[in-house]
Amino acid sequence: MKNEILSVAASKGIFFSPDAMEMILSNDKPMDFVNTVFSHLAKNAMFVSKQDIMDCIAGDKILFQSEPEVKPHNKFTSDLTIVKGTDVTGESTCEGKVNDFAQYFRGRFFSLKRLIEKRNDFGKAMSISKAKTMDRTVRICGIIFDTSTTKNGHKMISLEDDTDMIKVFIHKESPIANELFVTDEVIGVEGRLNIKMGAIMAEKIFRPDIPKTHKWELSDSTSKVAFLSDVHVGSTTFLDTQWKKMISWLKENSEEKGINYVVFPGDVVDGIGVFPDQDKELLIADIYDQYAQLAEYLKDIPDHIKMVIHPGNHDAARSAEPQPALNKVFTEKFDSNILMVGNPVYMSIEGRTVMSYHGKSIDDWVAAVQYLTYEDPLRVMKEMCIRRHLAPIYGQRNALAPEKKDYLVMEYVPDIFVSGHVHGAGQLQYNNVRLINASTWQSQTEYQKMHNFNPNPAIMPTVDLGSGKVEMHDFN
Ligand SMILES: [Fe+2]
Repeated sequence: MKNEILSVAASKGIFFSPDAMEMILSNDKPMDFVNTVFSHLAKNAMFVSKQDIMDCIAGDKILFQSEPEVKPHNKFTSDLTIVKGTDVTGESTCEGKVNDFAQYFRGRFFSLKRLIEKRNDFGKAMSISKAKTMDRTVRICGIIFDTSTTKNGHKMISLEDDTDMIKVFIHKESPIANELFVTDEVIGVEGRLNIKMGAIMAEKIFRPDIPKTHKWELSDSTSKVAFLSDVHVGSTTFLDTQWKKMISWLKENSEEKGINYVVFPGDVVDGIGVFPDQDKELLIADIYDQYAQLAEYLKDIPDHIKMVIHPGNHDAARSAEPQPALNKVFTEKFDSNILMVGNPVYMSIEGRTVMSYHGKSIDDWVAAVQYLTYEDPLRVMKEMCIRRHLAPIYGQRNALAPEKKDYLVMEYVPDIFVSGHVHGAGQLQYNNVRLINASTWQSQTEYQKMHNFNPNPAIMPTVDLGSGKVEMHDFN
């Protein structure tokens, strides 16, 4: 194998240092690994060290896995698994140092650049430093540093890659002038350098996106997965009657209807100290008691149902995303058929890829983009899919922890993408991905009343894992 690699490298004029060679040979699939390294090396690379390879992959573990790799959990049989590398629980390494942030954004850039380069209408991006020297149409990838509007109404974007930064000019009459750009998203640009302006005149924009070819292939599964978001146990506005109605419906119908899985996309309890004067709205003031009460409620859910819980911004987890799973001190009273995972997470359920994310970043999307609203979270989720990122906007209300890899990147194309947070209920299909906003079990809060926001509570969405049919079960 070593000789094979050396001869392929030599044919490309590349020489690996001994430590680089050692790293390549220690990979499970050295040839695949080395080919991926080739495709990410700078064009003029000649002597490649281990560090160069590390820089190429910059926290981007997915470079070496194109299909979700599932990690069986010992509590479960293989019909529900967590996709390896998508749950930060037990993997968090960041200390919040400047270097961590640099590595985090490199990870984001390379992951999303790779998705853009996978598009069959894009090809390989040229580095920005090289594009600055070219007198022809080029394609580049970069992370948006900022956007502005010129005094004549044209759009100007500062785009940055790992080599340099460049201005991208979009004429106000151009068909791409109305596209939405948010800071810190990664885009591909086709255009030509205007030397006088020192800017690329953009002709086309490319997003990582969900491929239009993505299909929901029918399977013979007869199971359904249900979603119960934002239960908010402990709040005075918890909808006890509707919850009990839902539980008795599950007891009567879940087996016959094949509801074998329930996912809780965060805010399972109301928490403490989440907003000023929250104690006035709490029925259970102690956080441990809130989780103990939830454990009691969940005992009523029929035993054949496997449950998955991840935290949201009201839960007792760090607020910065990605959030690790709830600590055992809160969940020791939970039954063993409940799996605790981080937020966000990818699961494989009977062959379907299910991504669950609480949705705190919706706050930033709504604040940054005029036409996005809390009333229509599905539209926000669609924008996330287009950018293949759950929370691109950095430094606003939603805190992001600079982990080695960016867990908020949508590495894989999900079949189902669920979120909560805004207490709405709805579904939408985008390129055959089932987007679901999974309601709440809390009525309108004082805060929501003040902001004239009407939630859509006590609705349980289910998705048929065979046919992909989505149903909304209303317990009001
Ligand atoms: Fe919530």
